[in-house]
Amino acid sequence: MEKILIIGANGQLGTELSAALQTKYGQDAVITSDIRKPQEENAIFEILNVLDNDALATIVKKYKITQIYHLAAILSAKGEENPIQTWNINMNGLLNVLEIARHEKLKKVYYPSSIAVFGTTTPSPAPQYTSMNPSTIYGISKRAGEQWCEYYFNKYGVDVRSLRYPGLISYKTLPGGGTTDYAVDIFYKAIEETHFDCFLSENTRLPMMYMPDAVRATLELMDAPKENLSTHEGYNLNAFDCTPKELYNEIKKHAPNLEMGYKIDELRQSIADSWSDSVIDEAARKDWNWQHEYDMESTTKEMLTNLKKKFEATK
Ligand SMILES: NC(=O)c1ccc[n+]([C@@H]2O[C@H](COP(=O)([O-])OP(=O)(O)OC[C@H]3O[C@@H](n4cnc5c(N)ncnc54)[C@H](O)[C@@H]3O)[C@@H](O)[C@H]2O)c1
Repeated sequence: MEKILIIGANGQLGTELSAALQTKYGQDAVITSDIRKPQEENAIFEILNVLDNDALATIVKKYKITQIYHLAAILSAKGEENPIQTWNINMNGLLNVLEIARHEKLKKVYYPSSIAVFGTTTPSPAPQYTSMNPSTIYGISKRAGEQWCEYYFNKYGVDVRSLRYPGLISYKTLPGGGTTDYAVDIFYKAIEETHFDCFLSENTRLPMMYMPDAVRATLELMDAPKENLSTHEGYNLNAFDCTPKELYNEIKKHAPNLEMGYKIDELRQSIADSWSDSVIDEAARKDWNWQHEYDMESTTKEMLTNLKKKFEATK
């Protein structure tokens, strides 16, 4: 029987991935953890700082954990505020997880990577194997993390798997300080049909994905037979790419009174400019049959419908 520990479970991804893992494996099989308490406790929960080795080991032994989903990280824009702390959490957190996986012989580890591993020398669309010179400490830590994962797989046989997510668009939990957050924020303004100021310029093209696709990709990768996987670094993962202007024009079809202006945040603009516009995810499609379901149009419809329901429920 699987026992799954999720680290960083209260964030934008963790909230939805935890629920999906509970549905798949059962309530009792999933142990959620984070440095902060969840807003609603609807799963087994432990306070855990991933930098605390002893606490991590205690939880792994207490629940007889067989798999870890290590989601805790400081994201791209927030990470630039304190690069040393970001490196410490993103890198040493992962090393603690890989070490416990090795010593306790865990069956599998999941490590999310990001399009932030790409840099100004990466061609666009970005191939699976290509030049990468990430410009943020977040991107540097994710790229180094990918390489540590491959190293632990080759040297110690730790079955660690990884995806390079694009910007994730979701309505359940707000994003935690990334460069693509505008693509979530704009939907909240669309529901109010007021004015939205975008922090990226109108033609900044970035890869994006609706959260249900990201969650399904994660579960499918983790279920794939090990012998089918050609890499234990992050797999490129693609759904659609868009600019703020294109997303605005799509949303406006449903929320005609939404106005958009631009208040450029230089930090996030420079990060976005260093990333690839889109990615090539042939390896994911070939190795474990990845197929995205949501494009920009269906993501927009789903986001507006679900956010409206959410707001009506809280009235
Ligand atoms: N959201 C995206 O668009 C996106 C895109 C690419 C990759 N990712 C990756 O997916 C993962 C999850 O991202 P997210 O969007 O849910 O981030 P988030 O910021 O919303 O959530 C991260 C969670 O980690 C927790 N955390 C922070 N430091 C911790 C520590 N020391 N110990 C334990 N928990 C700690 C936070 O409290 C938070 O709940 C991250 O690794 C991120 O790099 C996310």
